[in-house]
Amino acid sequence: MGFPKDFLWGGAVAAHQLEGAWNVDGRGPSICDVLTGGANGVAREITDGVMEGKNYPNHRGIDYYHTFREDNALFRDMGFNCFRTSISWSRIFPNGDEEEPNEAGLQFYEELFSDYRAKGMEPVVTLSHFEMPLHLARMGGFTNRKVVDCFVRFATTVMERYKNQVTYWLTFNEVDNQMNMHTPIFPYTNSGIIPDPDASPHEVEQRIWQAIHNEFVAAAIAVRTGHEINPDFRIGCMLSFVPIYPQTCRPDDVMLAQMQMRDRYLFGDVYTHGEYPKYLIKRWEREGFDINMEPGDLEIIQGGIVDFVSLSYYMSTAVSSEGATSVSMEHNLKGLVPNPYIEATDWGWQIDPVGLRYSLCEMYERWNKPLFIVENGVGMYETCDENGFVADDSRIAYLRSHIEQVKKAIDFDGVPVMGYTVWGCIDVVSFGTGEMKKRYGLIYVDADDEGNGTYCRSRKKSSYWYQNVIATNGEEL
Ligand code: BG6
Repeated sequence: MGFPKDFLWGGAVAAHQLEGAWNVDGRGPSICDVLTGGANGVAREITDGVMEGKNYPNHRGIDYYHTFREDNALFRDMGFNCFRTSISWSRIFPNGDEEEPNEAGLQFYEELFSDYRAKGMEPVVTLSHFEMPLHLARMGGFTNRKVVDCFVRFATTVMERYKNQVTYWLTFNEVDNQMNMHTPIFPYTNSGIIPDPDASPHEVEQRIWQAIHNEFVAAAIAVRTGHEINPDFRIGCMLSFVPIYPQTCRPDDVMLAQMQMRDRYLFGDVYTHGEYPKYLIKRWEREGFDINMEPGDLEIIQGGIVDFVSLSYYMSTAVSSEGATSVSMEHNLKGLVPNPYIEATDWGWQIDPVGLRYSLCEMYERWNKPLFIVENGVGMYETCDENGFVADDSRIAYLRSHIEQVKKAIDFDGVPVMGYTVWGCIDVVSFGTGEMKKRYGLIYVDADDEGNGTYCRSRKKSSYWYQNVIATNGEEL
């Protein structure tokens, strides 16, 4: 009973949100380097290159590029046995389409991964976490088939280089998130599409489907190639799992929720079954989407089935067949309505621990693959007390209530969960808003949205609580 002995406990971050050092050691600009800081309810802007006088928080991150050894020592002290981060593609291929990689970038990750291992943490590495070289985004991101080749070269290079250091790999972070991203609110999709104000909604969606197909091909090649490089590699996909509940048992509500869940399920369906589901093919036909597939693409997808499914889980949503189409920072869902039974964070993310167990059951029973929760956490406004301490009891309550549900999924439902990594185990730049003040960390970083502060680190109360959770393998919550 309880968590398996080899359960992976740790934290998760992404290169562009913490490394900083955006233009050193040969790194090229990534799409995140032209994203300005936004605010709660205020979208980030994507600029045409880096512009004088604008605030680009990802240029700074929390300077982990220079502080990783000390930060990793804090993670080790908390007892992490794994650590999830991503590789900044433009450190390795500055423009993305070079033939040869940047050795300084490769060297950096070699040192980083060996530091994790030296401190007892198994690296869990995302190949592309919401970023690509800016040059590739300007080529159309994954709508452009050439970007598939560039990604494969990048993935092959790093998997070859780190084949003795990294076992766990994830392809595209929250690949399904782009289904929410066809609104002007998001500056770009995670497949690298920068919005074109002159494109019709149908054209925008056509581009997204094309990018998604190309990403499926790219991910499948990465899975196959990775297994050739090292048969011990365990390679997973990564989904943003936000269950969509019907607001009532009115049949139209139930049907609407099922239709909308397909935007989530289809990614796992393809990654685990190796083929496009019938409901998607029907939708493409019905809505007039014409996906350009090269000969052999479907066989490639068939041959690239993942070893496990990883997910982020933050919240659930609800829809009503009588609700209006909602365009918000987080969702673009027809009929989105608030769920009156649960509370939301200051950023409107609805807190629903039971939804995590529900999601784990749905995913496992549909896909029959081990699951890895690689993001879960809560963004909050926080200040230090007069002693410089953050007593983040509500974060502890959030994490406890979610981990309890993971335990139930394992014990009661028989779901094979491989691990759990808290999102933003250290305060980092928020992806959605670019703020530092939307804090997820178990470790506080003294920095504000404009980059002022000492950048000193200090452990919050939650870090001691989580340390005990890990030490007792989830027995004491
Ligand atoms: C996930 C992303 O969507 O949620 C992370 O994978 C992101 O990159 C996290 O930071 C929390 O979102 P936000 O917008 O609050 O930073």
